[in-house]
Amino acid sequence: MKTVVSGIRSTGNLHLGNYYGALRNFIRMQHENRCFFFIADYHSLTTHPNPKDLYPNVKNVLTEYLAAGLDPEVSTIFIQSDVPEVTELYLMLNMHAYLGELSKTVSFKEKARKQPENVNAGLLTYPTLMAADILLHNPDEVPVGKDQEQHLEMTRRFARRFNNFYGVEYFKEPVAYSDGTQMIKVPGLDGSGKMGKSEGNCIYLIDDAKTIQKKVMRALTDQGPTEPNSVKPDYIENLFTIMQIVSAPETVAFFDEKWNTCEIRYGDMKKQLAADIIEAVNPIRERILEINANPAILHKAVTLGKEKARESAGKTIREVREIMGFRNF
Ligand code: ADP
Ligand code: TRP
Repeated sequence: MKTVVSGIRSTGNLHLGNYYGALRNFIRMQHENRCFFFIADYHSLTTHPNPKDLYPNVKNVLTEYLAAGLDPEVSTIFIQSDVPEVTELYLMLNMHAYLGELSKTVSFKEKARKQPENVNAGLLTYPTLMAADILLHNPDEVPVGKDQEQHLEMTRRFARRFNNFYGVEYFKEPVAYSDGTQMIKVPGLDGSGKMGKSEGNCIYLIDDAKTIQKKVMRALTDQGPTEPNSVKPDYIENLFTIMQIVSAPETVAFFDEKWNTCEIRYGDMKKQLAADIIEAVNPIRERILEINANPAILHKAVTLGKEKARESAGKTIREVREIMGFRNF
């Protein structure tokens, strides 16, 4: 059984892209692997969030992940700051992380450009904290998107450097998780290639039926095809792609046929698409409301997660201290 670790950003509501592109894989993989999923609240400090936002942000993300089906009895789901061992490993790894390599990281350069008034050391050492998150549980694989590839590469480098420096074979060099299935990319309803928070084109798991209907009915369409079997423009292709993700294959085939024979009625297609999205999202939404009404569910989940994560983290820290030469008096 493989060990898998992944961190989740602690801001914002989950949208269909997050769900079908990432979360559903987490939910699937938790049954076949030893999984650690945590909410990266220490990482969020790089942007100096208002203290009053910190807790609701973490709570919100945790609620949505549990509601969607991450099971605290199966996976270890925890809050990063509940396992302070990570800060010790971060300190140790930082002693072997160099200014040259940290300042060349793409994410650092981007952040430094975006917030020139706050280029703090936490931003510079973001990759070491991420490496500490990962190496703390010595996993085989890390399920992350393409944008995190460089951080994962640095994690491997830090692991290798530690092993070489201390003459041990201690840390594994974790690779990106892959279960062999095609990654799903959810397009936007506005004709853009990607549904995303910064794109402002999202359907959220917390959206109610009316909101979803409104968003789908507003999606960009046109007069319809004039030639049979013509190529679909991107904004129409996107509707079909979303339909392939949420609807039954017969439904997609039905509208595809209508497209090919120039008989498509976008109003009907959108009504069907909205209904199918609602059906997919509604059970999650109901579960979110249920958890909101019963916060003991969260308490139980993170208490269990903290205990399991600290056990694994404690073992690593004891062993790393030993390797580095720390001794008890
Ligand atoms: P956003 O900022 O749009 O919420 P993030 O960049 O925080 O998204 O991504 C969180 C996770 O969700 C990542 O694993 C990312 O690959 C996945 N993800 C985000 N948007 C999509 C999308 N439209 N299609 C597929 N996966 C997505
Ligand atoms: N940096 C990741 C992101 O922005 C979040 C993250 C923090 C993470 N620590 C991690 C992901 C450890 C995987 C493993 O999405």
